[in-house]
Amino acid sequence: MRTIAISINKGGQGKTTLTKTLATAATQAGLNVLVLDVDTQQNAVGWKKRREKQQNKPLPLIRFVTEQDLSDELKRAESAGCDLVLIDTPPGRSSEAMAGCEAAELVLIPFWNDQDSYEGVAKTTLLARRLGKEAIGVLNFATPNSKSHEETAREVLKVIGLPMAPVILHRYDVHRLANVKGLTAQEVEPESSAAEEIKALWKWFSATVQMGKGATVHKVKEMV
Ligand SMILES: Nc1ncnc2c1ncn2[C@@H]1O[C@H](COP(=O)(O)OP(=O)(O)OP(=O)(O)O)[C@@H](O)[C@H]1O
Ligand SMILES: [Mg+2]
Repeated sequence: MRTIAISINKGGQGKTTLTKTLATAATQAGLNVLVLDVDTQQNAVGWKKRREKQQNKPLPLIRFVTEQDLSDELKRAESAGCDLVLIDTPPGRSSEAMAGCEAAELVLIPFWNDQDSYEGVAKTTLLARRLGKEAIGVLNFATPNSKSHEETAREVLKVIGLPMAPVILHRYDVHRLANVKGLTAQEVEPESSAAEEIKALWKWFSATVQMGKGATVHKVKEMV
């Protein structure tokens, strides 16, 4: 079982969006996926509730958990044959975000090309380093058809000392629109540029966390 936290100190960077799109891609790939929402905003849980009303959509398990229950939840998931756990963490300096990163083997840090965001990247990178966790930055909200955000981000992350994912997510309204119905961009507009980059993101992510190797594809045990 792979356990990945999605975290950045700064709010509104795409943590929950990244969590939902990766969870959906992993579920579509046939993996048993659990999303643990440790954010009291419960945005991932809200998305799941809207998603339950859709017909024939693969539904990753999504639960709100407090930091106190996190390690028990992870033990249960492991023994139930879960392949991938994604932990969606809250913004700000919180014990939940720290617990989420501590429980994970890798921290994905979504950010955009903005000074406040880079300060958040630096703080979360430091947290991951203190916890002895690998971390990777994922540039989000880049302007479509422009390379300048990516170039700046790569320079800044080099200074911070954080590796950056090769796949960039650009700003596309379909992410917001999909959220209204509990869907993801790749489901609402499967032929879109947004869907293409999510496909590339999943390919990169699953290779990076070696999902193909450790995964036990679709066990039937219930994660209750
Ligand atoms: N690439 C993108 N293009 C357009 N909109 C996006 C993109 N990524 C995220 N969004 C939108 O930006 C908003 C913030 O994203 P999201 O909720 O994922 O951020 P977050 O980091 O989880 O926020 P919080 O810190 O409050 O938990 C949402 O409305 C989401 O739909
Ligand atoms: Mg969120």
